[in-house]
Formats: sequence, C-alpha cells, structure tokens
Amino acid sequence: CGIIGYVGSRGDPSEVLMAGLSTLEYRGYDSAGIAVGNGSLQIEKREGELEALEKAVSTKSFSGSVGIGHTRWSTHGPPSDRNSHPHTDESNSVAVVHNGIIENYQELRDELQTEGVIFSSDTDSEVVPHLVAKNLKAGDDPERAFQRAVDRLEGSYALACVIEGEDAIFAAREDSPLVLGIGEEGYYLASDVPAFLEYTRDVVYLDDGEFVTLTEDDYIVSKDGHRVEKDVKTVEWSAEQTGKSGYDHFMLKEIHEQPTSLRQCLSGRVDELAGHITVEELTDLETPRSVQFVACGTSYHAAMYAAALLRDGGIPATAYLASEYATANPPIPDDTLVVGITQSGETADTMSALRDANSRGAETLALTNVVGSSAARECDHVLYIRAGPEIGVAATKTFSSQLIGATLLVENLLEETADRELIGALRDLPSNVQAILDNSNAEAVVDDFLESNAFFFIGRGTHFPVALEGALKFKEITYEHAEGFAAGELKHGPLALVTEHTPVFAVVTGNGENAHKTISNIKEVEARDAPVVVVTDGQSDAARYADAVLEIPETHEQMAPLLANVQLQLVAYHMANRLGRSIDKPRNLAKSVTVE
Ligand code: G6P
Repeated sequence: CGIIGYVGSRGDPSEVLMAGLSTLEYRGYDSAGIAVGNGSLQIEKREGELEALEKAVSTKSFSGSVGIGHTRWSTHGPPSDRNSHPHTDESNSVAVVHNGIIENYQELRDELQTEGVIFSSDTDSEVVPHLVAKNLKAGDDPERAFQRAVDRLEGSYALACVIEGEDAIFAAREDSPLVLGIGEEGYYLASDVPAFLEYTRDVVYLDDGEFVTLTEDDYIVSKDGHRVEKDVKTVEWSAEQTGKSGYDHFMLKEIHEQPTSLRQCLSGRVDELAGHITVEELTDLETPRSVQFVACGTSYHAAMYAAALLRDGGIPATAYLASEYATANPPIPDDTLVVGITQSGETADTMSALRDANSRGAETLALTNVVGSSAARECDHVLYIRAGPEIGVAATKTFSSQLIGATLLVENLLEETADRELIGALRDLPSNVQAILDNSNAEAVVDDFLESNAFFFIGRGTHFPVALEGALKFKEITYEHAEGFAAGELKHGPLALVTEHTPVFAVVTGNGENAHKTISNIKEVEARDAPVVVVTDGQSDAARYADAVLEIPETHEQMAPLLANVQLQLVAYHMANRLGRSIDKPRNLAKSVTVE
C-alpha cells in the first residue's frame, strides 16, 4: 500500500494528495481514498484504480489545510469500497490510513466490539480509528490518543491519522516505510519520496518506533515519549529515477525491497517465543497424504523447492510444470492437495491445471501474491505471500516470498513442532538479505564476463531450483544463453559445452555430502578451464576452486537457497545493465501470461 499526507498553506489539500497517490499507485491499485480536514472530515474512497477516485474528487470541492490519502494493496479483506482507506471511527471524527499488517487486530476488534463498537470493514486497519476515538472519549488530547492507540498495536505499520477540528497529522512507523518532506508551503508525509518530490527534495526518514506530529508550522518527531532530532537530507534524483525511488530500474528496487517484503510475509506467522509457525489462513487445512504442485516460470522453481521440503518431511510431493500437467495426466490419489504457486494468481496454464485438479476432486490451494486473484478465488485454500506489487517483469522479491510461503506451508503440513533453528533463521532472514545487498560484489564479478555468450548455473538438492532460477533470470534480462543444471548431471551431457569461454556459477553451502559432491563437479568444470564463480557461505573449501566468490551469510540449510538466489538476482541485473538491456520490460515477455 502507499500512504500520503499533507499539512500546509497551499489551499485545497486534495491536489497534493491526488498527485501523490498517482506516483504511489504502483504500490497497490485495489482501491484509493482521501480524507481532508476542514472542521469536519471530508472523505472520498473508491474501489479500483485511482481513476475512479479522481472522478469522484473532481466533482467535489475541498478546502482546509490538512489531509491524508491511501492506495491499497489488499492483505485482509477483498478489494471493495468498504475495505478502502481511510477508515474512520463511528462518528467520522477520526480517519486513518495504514500500510502494513496489524497482527493482533482480531483481539483488538473483539475487545472493541464487546464495548459496543460497530465495524464497517473487514480490514485489520479499522481497529486504529476506533482505538483513537476511544482514547479521545476517555479525555486524552489528540496526540496522546493516537500514541496510546499505536502502543496497543503489534505488527508492522506506517500510519497517518487526522482528527476532526485538528489541523495536524499524527503518524507512526514500525517496519513499514514512512518519510517526511519539508517544504516551503508545508509538510508532507509518504510511503515513498516520489509522492511529494514535486514540492520538495528535503526529506526526513523516520525510523521504527518513531511518532511524528505535523502541523502547518512544525514537525515533532518522538520516540518513547522523548523528542528526537532528525537529519534533513536532500534527495538528488533525476526525473527518470523518481518513480523508482532513486533506483535505475524497478527490478533493482524490488531486489532491495526484499528485507521488507520478507518481513511482511513472516509477520504474525512465526512465534519465536512459543516456537510455533502458524498460518491463520491454513488452520482448517488437514495434512494430506500427498501433494502436487503446479506452476510456471519462476514459480515452478519455488514449486520444486517446496516439493523437496515436503519429501524431506516424509510427505510424497511432486512439482509439475502447469502447462504439462494435463498432458502428464498424473493420477491424483485420494487425499491429495494440489497447490498452485502463482505470483499473479492469473497465469492461464496454472489456472487450467488447478481447474483440472479441482474437477478431478482434489483439494486445491493457491500460494499467491494477489488478494482476490482468480487462483485465490477458485482454490479451496489460499496462502498469501504478501510481497506487495512487483512491476519488473522478472520476478525477484515475489520468488523469495514464494520460498518463504512454501516454508510456512510445509511447516503447517508437517505434524512435528517447528525446528528452533529454522525459526531463528527466519527471524534473521531479512537482515541476512540486507547484508548481501550491502556487500555484494556481483557487479564487479560480471565485469569479467562481458564477452562470454554462454553461462551455466549448477546446484544440488534445494540449490538445483536456485540454479534453474539463476539461469532463467539471467537469460530473461541479459538475452544471453544461460542454462541451469543439477550439479551431478553436468557430466552426463552438458559438460560437452563447457570451455574456457563459458562461466559456471555454482551454489555450494554447508559442508556436508551435497557440498562435497558439488565441489567435485566444480573441479570437473575447472579442469575444462571454465571460469568458476562460487556462491557460498564459506563453510566448505569450495572457494579454493573458484575464480570469484559471491558470499552469503551462514544460515539454516533451508534458507540458504533464498540467500544464494539474491546474489544471482544481482548477477543477472548487473550483467543486463552492463549490456544495456531493457531490464524492466525484457523483449517478448509479459509479467502475467493469460493464454495457454
Ligand atoms: C510469466 C512471467 C514469469 C513468471 C510466470 C509465472 O511468464 O514472465 O516471470 O514466473 O509468468 O507467473 P505467476 O504469476 O503465475 O507466478
């Protein structure tokens, strides 16, 4: 989701809000809305793309000095007018926009309902205006009423709130982006700088746990009841970079969003203290006797990974290319769960395989990013990966979130208690990904291979799908020939292609049998003089046989494929960038393919 706020002297705040929302629309386009304060609150919201709201707003006149706006990407409750933000209390005197997930919303909602509060949406966000209103009624001043409401929340949020009769915005941030703009004609607040870049380049980045109160003449940031002095930074982006928050491409931006999108995917689902992994959506899902996955492209690689985890846990599982599923006509034994992994939830091949499975009596589940998509609507169960919208055609952050979605699914299906080490690795995952993003030498590594025109990627076990994904990403955006192989299979054919001109990227983590066998395969290619790049956590001596090393932090073996893949995303990106390719829109490809 995207949020925007403005307080100042420009006149009609709806202009700033609508302009801001149009630059934030890539963050979600299920619905949009604004609230403008001028004595009482004027609220407009509409389901669907921003255009619907623009039409409604153009027929009204707004005045006042303060307003907030929102563009939604659904996580709780389908897209609809009633689930659109801003949400309000019963008397429309408090309006709130929210980006993130409130984990304890059910508990808060139950509590408020017991006190007689009537809710008008299915969202987690609506608890906030009701809590603020309750505190106001109890005699709190507006700032305190907001802060005490936020103190009750668990989860992730960027929140902005306006209150009837107050020329101020009250805002808070925890694990969701929020930035202030310091302008000559007022203050701005948004999920992302481009939303107000038209008015000012001076920004203050809020940190987790901080509150801010914005009025026409001042902004006050505080944390734990104490005022915090913040640095004002000046953004120097070109017009071209603006929509991409300063990155040259959406793909690079999305690669860098992964710590946040992964945190979002895990939010409320992993309880470290209790040692539980629980997915609310899956509580009524019984453990099946076998599982079949259907998926295409990148999602198929996530399916291979998921199937491997399940088999490891003792449940027979197979990954099928969705386009081959009907042709393969696999028997569907009784008590089989068929899982469609699809970022968009609309891929025709995957939908057709799911419908086929459904018509043959199988129970179905969608692992998807899009609330209300065809897969989400038509399957018996759905698990959302919550990666947020992905604009780049090449899937990056959604693939990482699919791997985590698969892990959550598998942990729910296996009837054992979750492995503590895995829970710890999930907790550390966002910071491990961040460490790779901060330190990767992928850009320098690809520089040596600009003249090569065939590239191989190898891996074993759960690194095999990573090798396939590394090669797919690479070929999609560099247009160079790239293939992924199971490391052990190289010697059965592909080795004939290996020469001093064919770089080989090998993924090796841990120091077990898989690592040792892959190292033997590395020696086979090294003996043919091929340049070798090893992606490794340094536990084995694989780096000794490599011409270049891409390091990843040591972690649980189930998380290592995801980390290795982040390095390979960067390899593909930097190579394509050096070659001047059309990275966000590679030739001949589409983000979502709705024909079979
Ligand atoms: C298209 C995209 C791929 C994607 C595949 C499956 O081919 O170009 O990046 O992996 O569709 O998409 P889905 O939305 O089903 O995950």
